[in-house]
Amino acid sequence: MLDAGCGTGFYTKWLVEQGADVLGVDVSEKMLSHAVEAVSDQAEFERADLGEPLDFATECSFGGVVSALALGYIEN
Ligand SMILES: C[S@@+](CC[C@H](N)C(=O)[O-])C[C@H]1O[C@@H](n2cnc3c(N)ncnc32)[C@H](O)[C@@H]1O
Repeated sequence: MLDAGCGTGFYTKWLVEQGADVLGVDVSEKMLSHAVEAVSDQAEFERADLGEPLDFATECSFGGVVSALALGYIEN
């Protein structure tokens, strides 16, 4: 699962607890550091700007995307 605009990792953590493999992305390094603290190494995190084409460090695909309260911040 992709958690797009994961913030402090609230939904990332929930998804992990449901047994999902999760990549959380956020534009804010500060938010990502909170997410890493909350979820530890049970999920992966990358800094990404959802306003730009996503270019992940490793080739990957997703079974689903969660984006809670994040898309409103994106112009396009
Ligand atoms: C209201 S918070 C929601 C966080 C989380 N999804 C949740 O529900 O707890 C919005 C998040 O969107 C992120 N965000 C804003 N603009 C973004 C962008 N262009 N690309 C990626 N994340 C962005 C912010 O850094 C923030 O963490």
